Amino acid sequence: MHVAINIDHIATLRNARGGQQPDPVLAALVCEEAGAVGIVCHLREDRRHIRDEDVWRLRSAIRTKLDLEMAATEEIITIACQVKPDLVTLVPERRQELTTERGIDILMQKEYYTKVVERFHAHNIPVSLFIDPVEEHVRAAAETGTDMIELHTGEYAESTTEKEIKQHLERIRAAAILGKQLGMKVNAGHGLDYNNIIPIAAISEIQEVSIGYAIIVRALEVGLAEAVRQMVTLVKQHSQTTMQ
Ligand code: PXP
Repeated sequence: MHVAINIDHIATLRNARGGQQPDPVLAALVCEEAGAVGIVCHLREDRRHIRDEDVWRLRSAIRTKLDLEMAATEEIITIACQVKPDLVTLVPERRQELTTERGIDILMQKEYYTKVVERFHAHNIPVSLFIDPVEEHVRAAAETGTDMIELHTGEYAESTTEKEIKQHLERIRAAAILGKQLGMKVNAGHGLDYNNIIPIAAISEIQEVSIGYAIIVRALEVGLAEAVRQMVTLVKQHSQTTMQ
C-alpha cells in the first residue's frame, strides 16, 4: 500500500498570516522526498486553504503525481481540465463543513457523476470517487465508469468501541474487495492516523491511502523541539546581553 499526502493544512497555516510561508509546494517536495507516492490538495469553492496558483505551482513542481480533490462544480471542473492533474478525486462539498464529512451521494446522483467522469476522460484525466464503504455505493460508482474509488474511512476513524471499529473495518474491507472485483482501483482516506492505519494497511485490495491532518500533527510533535532548539541556539550565538 502506498501513501499520498494531503497538504491542505500547510496552506491553512500560510493563510493565517497572509504571506507566503509555509509554502505548500515546498512541503509537497519534502513529502515526496520522504516517500509519498502522490500529493493531494483540495481546491475548495471558498479557497479557504489551497488557491488556484498553488495548484498550478504543484502541477509543475512535483515529480510523483498530483491528485486534485474537488467538488464536481462547473468552476472547479473547468480549472481541473486546464491543470490536468494525474487524478481528480471528486468529493461532496458543503461550505459550512470543517472537512469533507461524507462520501458522494452516488445513489441519487449517478447520472450526473457519469457525465462528469466522461468529461474528465475526454481530457485524459483519471477519476476517483470518494464514497462511503457501502455495497450499493460501490456498485453505483462502478456504473459511472470511474477509474477508482476512495473509501471514506472517517466513520471508522471516529469509532471508539471495539465493536464499532470492527464493524467499520469489515465494511471497508468488503467494499474494497467488491471495488476491486468490479475493476476499479481502490484507495481509502479520511481521519487516518498512526494507530488506526495499521488494520487498514493490512487490506490488500486498497492500493493507496490519502492522509493529511495526522501527518501535520506528527510533524509538529517531532519537529517543534528541534525548531525551538535552533532558535534558542541562534539567539544565544548573536545575543549582546549577558545571560543571567
Ligand atoms: N481523502 C479525502 C477525500 C479528504 O477529503 C480528506 C480530507 O481533506 C482526506 C482524504 C485526508 O483526511 P485527513 O486530513 O483526515 O487525513
